[in-house]
Amino acid sequence: MCDDLRLFTDEETDMPYVIPGRFNEKVAFVTGAGSGIGRATAIRLATEGAELFVHDVNADSLAETVSVITANGGTAVSRVGDVSERAECFAAIAEAIEAFGRLDVLANVAGIAGAFHFTEMTETQYRRMVAINMDAPFFFCQAAIPHLLASDGNIVNIASNAGLMGQAYTTAYCMTKGAVVQLTRSLAMEYAKTKIRVNAIAPGGIVTNLTHNFQIPADIDFELMAPYLGYRGQGEADDIAELIALVAAPESTNIHGAIFSSDRGVTAG
Ligand SMILES: NC(=O)c1ccc[n+]([C@@H]2O[C@H](COP(=O)([O-])OP(=O)(O)OC[C@H]3O[C@@H](n4cnc5c(N)ncnc54)[C@H](O)[C@@H]3O)[C@@H](O)[C@H]2O)c1
Repeated sequence: MCDDLRLFTDEETDMPYVIPGRFNEKVAFVTGAGSGIGRATAIRLATEGAELFVHDVNADSLAETVSVITANGGTAVSRVGDVSERAECFAAIAEAIEAFGRLDVLANVAGIAGAFHFTEMTETQYRRMVAINMDAPFFFCQAAIPHLLASDGNIVNIASNAGLMGQAYTTAYCMTKGAVVQLTRSLAMEYAKTKIRVNAIAPGGIVTNLTHNFQIPADIDFELMAPYLGYRGQGEADDIAELIALVAAPESTNIHGAIFSSDRGVTAG
C-alpha cells in the first residue's frame, strides 16, 4: 500500500485508509452484514459517507453492525432475512429502494462454507450451499440491476480463491464460487454498453466466524489441503472491505468485469 494513502487514515475509527466522503450521497446494500467481511464492508462504506441497507439472517449480529454505524454518525437500515429464498432477495432490494429511493452499490457478501468428503455431503447440505452462495447473488443482481442502471451504480460479488482453483474436500463451495466468478463476467458483458460496473473479489483465508467455525472431517488427508492454505496465514476482514470500497468507488470507472484476488499469493502458483 502506498504510504501517501496513510494521509487518509481516520484515527477516530481506527480503520486504515479511510477516504472520507468518497461515498457521500450514495446508497449501498450489503448482504452478510452481520459478521466478518460483510460487517467490515458496511462499516467502512458508512465511514466513507454511504447510507447503508444491511442484510443478514442473524438478527442480533446485524443489530450490532447497525449500532456501530449509527454510533459513528452513519445511517443504516436493516432487514433480517434468509438469502436462500428468491422472494427475500427481491423483497429486500425493494425495501432498500423504499427506504432510500436509490441504489448505488450492491455488495453480495453473505455465504457459507464447509469441508466434506465428496461422497458424504448430503443433498440438504449441497442445496443449501448452492442456494446461499450461488442462487442468492444471482437473484440479488436481478433485483438490483434496474435500480443500478438508474444510478450508474455497481455490483461487487464476493467469490473466493476457491472459485479460481480446485480444492480437495470443498467441491461444492468451489463450484458455487466459480459460478460467482462467471456471474460477474457474464453480467459485465451483458451490460457492457451501459455505465453499470460488475466486479468480483476473490479472497483467500480471512479471519472471520466462517473460518473460525469451519468444519473439517477428522479423517481427511491434510496434505491435500496444503496447496490452498498458502504460506502467509490469513488476512483480516477489513483487507477485503478496503478492496470492496476501492472497486465500488464512483471514481473506479475503469474497473469492470474484473476478478480481484486478495489471497496472499495462494492462487499465484
Ligand atoms: N473468510 C474467508 O476466509 C473467506 C475466503 C474467501 C471467501 N469468503 C467469502 O466471503 C463471504 C463472507 O464470509 P465471512 O468470512 O465474512 O463469513 P462470516 O460467517 O463471518 O459472515 C457471513 C455472514 O453471512 C450471513 N449469512 C449466512 N447465511 C445466510 C443466509 N442464508 N441469509 C442471510 N445471511 C446469511 C451470516 O449470518 C454471516 O453474518 C462469504 O461469501 C465467503 O464465502 C470468505
